[in-house]
Amino acid sequence: MLTPAPTTGDTSWFVRDRFGLFIHWGLYALGARHEWLQHRESIPSEAYRRTYFDHFDPDLYDPTLWAEAAAGAGMKYFVVTTKHHEGFCLWDSALTDYKAPNTPAGRDLLRPMVDAFSAEGLRTGFYHSLIDWHHPQYRIDPFIGPYRESPDRAKMNETRDQATYAEYLHGQVRELLTQYEPDVLWFDFSFAGRGEEGKGREAWKSEALIQMIRELRPGIILNDRLDLPDAWDVKTPEQFQPRGWVHIDGKPVVWEACQTLSGSWGYHRDEATWRSTENLVQTLIDCVSKGGNLLLNVGPTGRGEFDARALDRLQGIGAWMRRHSRSIYGCTQAPFPAPADGRYTWNPETKRLYLHLFAWPYKHVYLPGLAGQVEYAQLLHDASEVAMKGIEAWQAGYGGPDGAGENALALTLPQVRPDEVVPVVELFLK
Ligand code: GLC
Repeated sequence: MLTPAPTTGDTSWFVRDRFGLFIHWGLYALGARHEWLQHRESIPSEAYRRTYFDHFDPDLYDPTLWAEAAAGAGMKYFVVTTKHHEGFCLWDSALTDYKAPNTPAGRDLLRPMVDAFSAEGLRTGFYHSLIDWHHPQYRIDPFIGPYRESPDRAKMNETRDQATYAEYLHGQVRELLTQYEPDVLWFDFSFAGRGEEGKGREAWKSEALIQMIRELRPGIILNDRLDLPDAWDVKTPEQFQPRGWVHIDGKPVVWEACQTLSGSWGYHRDEATWRSTENLVQTLIDCVSKGGNLLLNVGPTGRGEFDARALDRLQGIGAWMRRHSRSIYGCTQAPFPAPADGRYTWNPETKRLYLHLFAWPYKHVYLPGLAGQVEYAQLLHDASEVAMKGIEAWQAGYGGPDGAGENALALTLPQVRPDEVVPVVELFLK
């Protein structure tokens, strides 16, 4: 069984809990066409402020409903955008006026969220953007920044001092760590290695930032986007599923995939590319089968709600989790190769192996290497027995059916596929 080497942050709860909610919520919810709209449409700061900041009024915002939806889906932690690239802050920061209390919302939106999620038993994480399209000292670059297409870039940069911005960044992180008790800090993102105008550890003063973070909250879990090769606890593949357990320098690491329900992180009204509940449940299983976590994103609306599509997916996942979370929490990659169209997860403490069937096999499924190793097998959703047998002599002569080998165990499945989003067989190992 693979076990990542310990890092500075405390990931013990994280690798047990496996499933979290990402929340991207900011002024871009009003634009409702992707959280990068300011950059994509080259909207100057003042115009963006007039359009969105001045009209941001989430009157239906009730974080208890959000927290209930997340807990109902089986999520154990959440990570919210305290500030995204647009620079707008959800909490009552003393270091800027570009914050929720100064919009028509008229209040700190972060505190009630943290309280509501804590009350539902979820741990807190803060996504914080390194990039800032609003701060007047943030140096403009041709890649990611604001005004990137402006011919006046060089001139505008004459009055911009990145070190002053870094101070602001550190100051805000200090606020978040002293006013709240987050378990995760999720920075986004560095783009060094693009010549002089890229931004990485120097632009953010990453080393000093991490030092401060570790002083204030030694066990906090830090993600990997500060451009420091050795100072992170968790790797964060985004918008793709890794082929297997994520390895860095040949060693397995703690990892968490972050995925959207559609394609945008912020609320997107017109996007029709929503993933099905089945696909999302399979994604969660796929993560755990490779020793990783899933951080699944919702972009709430400008009124302050999860829209119907998001709620539908969360409820669907929750219905599956109610019967199957035993195959997720406390589970990791199994020490056996899974059969085709299946994913294993494995609970090393209870010695139970979970076979997730993404396609329903024809009567039998053959499990390589498991002959004689399993004490009992059942379908997880209803605890109904699944018959087991070894490979028969005539089958062994062909190398075992499905090429599973002579030591395969054959499970006899019901003819009709159970009506579960992903059916699971629970195997009690001897
Ligand atoms: C990206 C994007 C972004 C999103 C994030 C989530 O790097 O800039 O909008 O917040 O990924 O991982």
